[in-house]
Amino acid sequence: MKIVRTIRELRSELHGEVGLVPTMGALHAGHLSLFDAARAENEIVVASLFVNAAQFGQPVDLASYPRDEAADAKLAEGAGVDILFAPAEAEIYPPGFATWVDVGDAGEEGAARSGHFRGVATVCVKLFNIVKPRRAYFGQKDAQQAIVVRRIVRDLNIDVQIRVLPTVRDEDGLALSSRNARLSEEERARALALPRALAAGAREYGLGGDAVAATRNALNGLTPDYVELIDLDGVTILATAAKVGATRLIDNVILEGELT
Ligand code: PAF
Repeated sequence: MKIVRTIRELRSELHGEVGLVPTMGALHAGHLSLFDAARAENEIVVASLFVNAAQFGQPVDLASYPRDEAADAKLAEGAGVDILFAPAEAEIYPPGFATWVDVGDAGEEGAARSGHFRGVATVCVKLFNIVKPRRAYFGQKDAQQAIVVRRIVRDLNIDVQIRVLPTVRDEDGLALSSRNARLSEEERARALALPRALAAGAREYGLGGDAVAATRNALNGLTPDYVELIDLDGVTILATAAKVGATRLIDNVILEGELT
């Protein structure tokens, strides 16, 4: 695996059908499942590793984001990534950078995190233009992000297929997230209320009942930012977000349909 830091160097390495997995590092098994899919479907697999300051609201959140490039590089290489694109901040946002992608309505998650999806959208469009992938890979756990990215690609006529892969969970059901590392043992136990409440909501939906109310009732003392039904290209998803201690977690389950 080659680690490249500049756009010029990256472009000189690219040929054939490229699969891109955009990441901010702190890689876990969820990312590895995206690398596996990209490996199976493309000639070249590029993973980007860039902690995108533009999508963070609180400076403290950005400052405490886990960074370990050597560990990430080892995992990416083991998963068959060909090129790790790990640019410096100024390579992506050089002095004078002033153009942003305005995403419009981004649901409850967008409302809860002002400016977040503008930052995500801008860096994704830049990565699509830099890497020119045939396919780009995102996790279902960030369903609202997947919706926003699919909409940008459609609205701005960007020629890339957005693949959305299932959420990877720990054995007890907690969705894998780089943020889980911040949970104490006691918080991690409380965080299990999220997947359990979503399962309760999905059961209720299956019985023809109110999935949102059932999820809210099963959150076991966690106060959600929202519980909402979202639509991702015809797939109905039940999504929620809640703080456990100081850590904000998001999770969702599919109620109807299948992601591609
Ligand atoms: O999901 C993430 O890790 C980030 O939002 C992404 C897509 C890499 C953009 O910075």
